[in-house]
Amino acid sequence: MDYAENILGTIGNTPLVKMNKLVEDLPCLVLAKYETFNPGNSVKDRMALQMIEDAEADGRLKPGGTIIEGTSGNTGMGLALAAIVKGYKCIFVISDKQSKEKMDILRAVGAEVVVCPTDVEPTDPRSYYSVSKRLGEETSNSWYVNQYDNPSNCKAHFKSTGPEIWEQTDGKVTHFVVGVGTGGTISGVGSYLKMKNPNIKVWGVDTYGSVFKKYHETGIFDEKEIYPYVTEGIGEDILPANVNFNIIDGFTKVTDKDAAVYTQKLAKEEGMFLGNSAGAAIKGVLQLKEHFKPEDVVVVLYHDHGSRYVGKMFNDEWMREMGYIE
Ligand SMILES: Cc1ncc(COP(=O)(O)O)c(C=O)c1O
Repeated sequence: MDYAENILGTIGNTPLVKMNKLVEDLPCLVLAKYETFNPGNSVKDRMALQMIEDAEADGRLKPGGTIIEGTSGNTGMGLALAAIVKGYKCIFVISDKQSKEKMDILRAVGAEVVVCPTDVEPTDPRSYYSVSKRLGEETSNSWYVNQYDNPSNCKAHFKSTGPEIWEQTDGKVTHFVVGVGTGGTISGVGSYLKMKNPNIKVWGVDTYGSVFKKYHETGIFDEKEIYPYVTEGIGEDILPANVNFNIIDGFTKVTDKDAAVYTQKLAKEEGMFLGNSAGAAIKGVLQLKEHFKPEDVVVVLYHDHGSRYVGKMFNDEWMREMGYIE
């Protein structure tokens, strides 16, 4: 018999899938690291389990404890699955721009969800950064995860996602392209791949309204770069410790409209029903066309599943209201 001891045993070892129609204009092979095959339907299951295991190991998380985190949904799902198996409670703080589906999904796996306003400064006491920190201090036997600065986030991708990509491409990968939020995925995968072959190029996909691209290019944290945007999961108004700018070769910014339109295109033209940051990621790959040669093997990572976006990017009424489609 071949079975996992519990649902956590099914995390990782996701497939690599060739992109076809959408990349017809590119000279090279483009392969998608398809992370929705994880049990929580996103790449975040990997780092959620790693963060919990590391916190258990050094006593930050104790038996029967409460896990507290500010999460846009996917990390929460990963944490909640592990919490169910391991016997912890979860309180998640989420910003009000996140899709309702994401909040409902977290409640479905037993978490308490606290919703905070998006359009306030990170230092504002109502911001989701501040509220999660405060709940961490006020709740007894609790552990505040802090995926932005928690090194176990990056470590999970160094230990699993990076090696999988290296092995699945037989060491032939030349470029890695991925959306950047906390930075865990790009930094963990990027450092592993560069350790195996320093010539591999690592590109981050950023949003308009986020500080990453300008900071990478100039070293300046420019507050004028910060404004509300629609794209979910990527871009930040802070510099998380998990973004290792040294291993990133460059950033490309994708507009909210393009990210939304390409989320639909992935579903309709490739049969890939994925989240909004996947749309941004593949548009980012297309924007980088001039960097690719025929012999290159480009790996793009898709973070999460389309079901979380049925009220937005997969709702044509919403798409029209936003002015993204005619
Ligand atoms: C849908 C989605 N895409 C992309 C990202 C960015 O990944 P990372 O936080 O590893 O940079 C996240 C994480 O917040 C996400 O939830």
